[in-house]
Amino acid sequence: MNLPTRVKIVDVGPRDGLQNEKQPVPAEVKIGLVQRLQDAGLREIEVTSYVSPKWVPQMADNHEVMAGIRRDSGVRYSVLTPNLKGFEAAVLDQPDEIVVFGAASEAFSQKNINCSIAESIERFAPVVEAARARGIHVRGAMSCTVGCPYEGEVAPAKVGYLAGLMKGIGVQRVDVADTIGVGTPRKVRAAFEATLGHFGIDQVSGHFHDTYGQALANTLAALELGVWNFQSSVSGLGGCPYAKGATGNVATEDVVFMLHGMGIATGIDLDRLIDAGQYISGFLGRKSGSRVATAVLNKRG
Ligand code: HMG
Ligand code: MG
Repeated sequence: MNLPTRVKIVDVGPRDGLQNEKQPVPAEVKIGLVQRLQDAGLREIEVTSYVSPKWVPQMADNHEVMAGIRRDSGVRYSVLTPNLKGFEAAVLDQPDEIVVFGAASEAFSQKNINCSIAESIERFAPVVEAARARGIHVRGAMSCTVGCPYEGEVAPAKVGYLAGLMKGIGVQRVDVADTIGVGTPRKVRAAFEATLGHFGIDQVSGHFHDTYGQALANTLAALELGVWNFQSSVSGLGGCPYAKGATGNVATEDVVFMLHGMGIATGIDLDRLIDAGQYISGFLGRKSGSRVATAVLNKRG
């Protein structure tokens, strides 16, 4: 086994976690969440996205949120930019990293960003070039790397194909995303192996939605390959508007508990993270989606 000794987590809660929320979440609450995440030790936070407000109304306050967060020099703040229009809007807010997001399945690409995989790469290429010219890091999210809500199972070759296209336009690192949480360890491993044909182990991260309760097992499968970058969402918030029924990312609290239990460092203070989760769950008026947070809160009494 090739287990890493430390792991870096991007909390995607403010973006992936909240994008699908039907009730309006004020910018002030999103800013409060980002603050609590960085106070808990998160060193990478996905803050918002610059997408069409008609498609994803919850992210329409991107400028306000980015302007309101108190930036810590040790933290990387990333944002989603699907095209040049989004990038031009984002750049005004000086993100540390932008994320272009494609899919390994054609149908999901169409539903999510209204274009084919090939067209998406054409749209991303000038975004990547402009970002890199300004010294902004570039990440590529790859959706549906094991399963697609419209096409079913996705072959690893499709993941490898997308990873190669991303690499070809200058994307620096990629997320292997299980958008609908149907992945199981061997399939997730195959998706990573296909990606590793194009990117090094330090340039790949796991992004697992926990719809079917497989995300921690999939995290372990990726760890065993040597993957040490993961994305998760505080309280297990979220879902994608274009993946019906898919629930949130694996809860950051659950990933941190597992890693610390395995002796793998994250730099995250679990108690403060649980407080961050309570803050947002309290606002949303629902219980935490994290098993670990629930257990710890029950013990706190
Ligand atoms: P489109 O309709 O094909 O774009 O949308 P268009 O260029 O034809 O423009 C149509 C209208 O959108 C125009 O406005 C544009 O100005 C506007 P109108 O003239 O009609 O008033 N527009 C924009 N407005 C704001 N920001 C922009 C922008 N671009 C065009 N950047 C587009 C294409 C990608 C914009 C659209 O399909 C969209 O916004 N989709 C939403 C995608 C999204 O946010 N999905 C969720 C995030 S991805 C995800 O959750 C997966 C991930 O977590 C990994 C995983 O789990 O799999 C990352
Ligand atoms: Mg996601």
